[in-house]
Amino acid sequence: MKKNTPLPPLDAAEQKRYIEVMRAENDRVFESTGKRRGAFIETFGCQQNVADSEKFAGMCVSMGYAIVKEAADADFIVVNTCAIREHAEKRTLSIIGQYKHLKEKNPALVIAVCGCMMAQEHRQDDIKFRYPYVDFVMGPSSLHRLPQLLCQKLKTGKRIYCPEEAEYTVVEDLPIRRESDYRAWVSVMYGCNNFCSYCIVPYVRGRERSREKDKIIAEVQELVAAGYKDITLLGQNVNSYAKDRADGYDFADLLAELDAIDGDFVLRFMTSHPKDASRKLIDVMASSKHIAHQFHLPMQSGSDRILSAMNRHYDTARYLDIVDYMKEKMPDVTITSDIIVGFPGETEEDFEGTMQMLSHVQFDMLYSFIYSPRKGTPAALMEQVPREVTAVRFDRLLALQKEIGQARNEELVGKTLRVLCDGVSKGNEALYSGRTEGNKIAFFEGTSADTGKFINVTVERADAFALWGKKQ
Ligand code: 5AD
Ligand code: SF4
Repeated sequence: MKKNTPLPPLDAAEQKRYIEVMRAENDRVFESTGKRRGAFIETFGCQQNVADSEKFAGMCVSMGYAIVKEAADADFIVVNTCAIREHAEKRTLSIIGQYKHLKEKNPALVIAVCGCMMAQEHRQDDIKFRYPYVDFVMGPSSLHRLPQLLCQKLKTGKRIYCPEEAEYTVVEDLPIRRESDYRAWVSVMYGCNNFCSYCIVPYVRGRERSREKDKIIAEVQELVAAGYKDITLLGQNVNSYAKDRADGYDFADLLAELDAIDGDFVLRFMTSHPKDASRKLIDVMASSKHIAHQFHLPMQSGSDRILSAMNRHYDTARYLDIVDYMKEKMPDVTITSDIIVGFPGETEEDFEGTMQMLSHVQFDMLYSFIYSPRKGTPAALMEQVPREVTAVRFDRLLALQKEIGQARNEELVGKTLRVLCDGVSKGNEALYSGRTEGNKIAFFEGTSADTGKFINVTVERADAFALWGKKQ
């Protein structure tokens, strides 16, 4: 396979053939050794990557692997990478570095590196020159090629650097092995057309393409019938769903159709872009039976000048207009956001604008990031804010949000909320934890029978990040 020659589409029948070849081989190993070959999947990054990894896991199981929890037990390792910030990339490369000794111990081990980092040529080159024990690499749009590339690697013994797809498509009907049996992710669209000036996503995940609504509805119906209680619709820019269709059908229409499904479940979606957050969408949420009154709406900055330099296509007035309408229609709404601190050219005054917006909107929670220059994006070439300045602003932002988050959570003390229980809390084994409809973490004394069920919890205490209460 020659680098830089785009790949023609892989049809479903051919894809299935590769799966069957691997299945036969892995079944043969199982019959002779009594042990299934293991596949280990390591995931970095956003929820889209988590959902993609469930497809990697599904394909591995179809190919006859058992999913293992430790890399050391694996015969096949898939690393699903993230390129959003430098920190994520560095961590990933360091983990890949640690796999060297596994390959030395077991030369038959196959290592694949996939995901957003691998859609960048300079990162493919990193693997090529610095990690010679990695067997093949491919970007996120080639996810369905995992069995094909694995077969090719095993047949030829040669390393593979998967080139770009000739066209970005939606590949349906891949096997999925979901991690939970009560929380599920459903991708509704892939890619992004926005080209925010700081963001690498449009370059690594390609242009927007939406799934057919009937496929999405069928998947959600199946999940509800199988007992799934919390279903999140995913897309890099989820509320621009179906903009690539000509018939006027939009994300609000999709939500309304999904809300009509019978059953006891909560529906969420992420991530939304403020420029596409319509009143119609908020009206559908407000009058729905199943859609959580929760909105993740990345603001990125509270300065109109910076928003324009970020190529965000809205200003603070438009952002506040959406937020005010949301609060009017859903007084119990939980609003969360993403903020980038230290975007190139950000002045003290611009940053003050962000702080003022925080005070005004009163976000329930923030995901705050220090700007990280991404090679190939316009902002990487702009004048950078010194690290020391950014660090001070970042701490100020966190401190303010901590106060706001605490106050927002304290408003819930005394209220009884429906919580989907996730089982024993990882940090404190004496307590159980779960998520409210607003997606806040709640701790309470529970029993193992509560796991995966909705229970009512009366909130007794809160901090900026979580609630503590009593099960009713
Ligand atoms: N630097 C810092 N944060 C970024 N994000 C996206 N690109 C960058 C970058 N280059 C943040 C945005 C986005 C979230 C997923 O990650 O806030 O909403
Ligand atoms: Fe990146 Fe902007 Fe697209 Fe979000 S909307 S994925 S921040 S380019």
